[in-house]
Amino acid sequence: MSQARVRAKVRALRSVDVGFAELDQARRFFTDVWNLAHIGENAGTHYFRGTGAFHHILTIRQLAQPALIRMVFDAADRPTVDALHAQVVAHGLNVIDPPARLRQPHGDYGFGCKDPEGRNIAVVCGVHDHTDAADQPDRPRKVSHININAGDNAASLACYRDALGLQVSDTTRKFHFLSCNPDHHSVVLGVSGGPTLNHIAFEMPELDSLMRGAGRMRDDGRGIEWGPGRHGPGNNVFCYFLGPEDMPLEYTAEMQQIDASHRARPPEHWKWPPGRLDHWGISAHPSERIEAAGLRIRFTDDGYRLDEWR
Ligand SMILES: [Fe+2]
Repeated sequence: MSQARVRAKVRALRSVDVGFAELDQARRFFTDVWNLAHIGENAGTHYFRGTGAFHHILTIRQLAQPALIRMVFDAADRPTVDALHAQVVAHGLNVIDPPARLRQPHGDYGFGCKDPEGRNIAVVCGVHDHTDAADQPDRPRKVSHININAGDNAASLACYRDALGLQVSDTTRKFHFLSCNPDHHSVVLGVSGGPTLNHIAFEMPELDSLMRGAGRMRDDGRGIEWGPGRHGPGNNVFCYFLGPEDMPLEYTAEMQQIDASHRARPPEHWKWPPGRLDHWGISAHPSERIEAAGLRIRFTDDGYRLDEWR
């Protein structure tokens, strides 16, 4: 299916669902250190919100080892969910939990599926979101983006572009940056190392909040594994850390906002001068620890099934 024929698109990465072996420690971390708000628990799943409107941006539950359960994308309405489901089927994906009514706070309608490399995706609409969405200093607004490594980058790229309607906003030697709203990227797809989690990025309201977050991480015994710096594609500020069970996490801010006039640039455009890895030129290479951690976490087998949301 060509880009021109895509009718339906997801419009945001709402949330990421994650499992940890040590649930209490992860809960403490995301509340007290990462500065999300713990808003409830149901059947062993803990819900966290940012300051933005989305009902929740992260859930955690107990698993034998750290794993991604699913990425949850937002669709505008039921017809869009149905159209996205049709696109997913037409694209050839065949591990699908069909569209069905859902219970809040997961939405009122949606479906789950596996992408070509086995990553679990949910597409939902009608979530009862919050009406208070003002920025608060030092608190993340939302999930900015998820960066996922690929084994078969071409197959995965075709899925996110053609079946889910994301658009390539830039391409480097190592990554495809994919956009589904004014943010320069909501999904980043690596060319190798997959299908594993590279990192999950949370958006801070501004640079000062990002740096104060880095200080909280240091207070918690977690140094900066890469950064601070300012990325090329997206022009966003970054700091990378290892969260609970060495889950790679990023605080980011000042993401480039794009519109229909944006033109994706090819890898040749994104070449740093020798010795540089970001616009500021002050960050060293990512630590060996975070590079290893960014190849380790996989998706669960059954995270595409949404039975518990019905
Ligand atoms: Fe990132």
